Amino acid sequence: MLQIQSQSPEQTQAIGKAMGEVLQPGDFINLNGTLGAGKTLLVKGIAAGHGVDAEDVTSPTFALINEYHGRSPLYHFDLYRLDRPEELEDIGYEEYFFGSGICLVEWGDQFDEYLPDDRLDVTLEQTGAAARKITIVGRGTRGTELEATLREALACTYSE
Ligand SMILES: Nc1ncnc2c1ncn2[C@@H]1O[C@H](COP(=O)(O)OP(=O)(O)O)[C@@H](O)[C@H]1O
Ligand SMILES: [Mg+2]
Repeated sequence: MLQIQSQSPEQTQAIGKAMGEVLQPGDFINLNGTLGAGKTLLVKGIAAGHGVDAEDVTSPTFALINEYHGRSPLYHFDLYRLDRPEELEDIGYEEYFFGSGICLVEWGDQFDEYLPDDRLDVTLEQTGAAARKITIVGRGTRGTELEATLREALACTYSE
């Protein structure tokens, strides 16, 4: 488990950018935390770190999924408004979740039985007006490796 304190929206985006720089095709990130915790902002940073213009990144709350083209394809989901798992099946989630693009899934815990075992779980908690605690847990072989890579990458800039 890796914990990072962010003191501002800019810092959260910078943390995301460092993450986006090390992501590889097939990686899956499950993002959770209350509304306004900073999931979408972190995704903006991740996408930017992966070569996407951050301005192209918007919340897919109504669209369910946004697609961006960086060094590899990125699929940005928001499952907040999804009521039934059948809706996931309707959009052919397996092609995305188990494909060769990168998935960034807000509110993934709502449908955790559908998520790949190999992934990064990221939780954002509001600890102050502009303060957030970001907890990163890698699962499976690639998730564990990614967590270790991030520990190195983020240690240079941020300490606990
Ligand atoms: N340290 C911080 N990290 C992320 N967002 C922050 C931070 N401090 C304040 N904010 C604000 O919180 C909001 C986060 O919004 P958003 O990323 O859309 O959240 P979510 O997707 O989790 O609902 C933004 O308005 C942002 O400016
Ligand atoms: Mg959001």
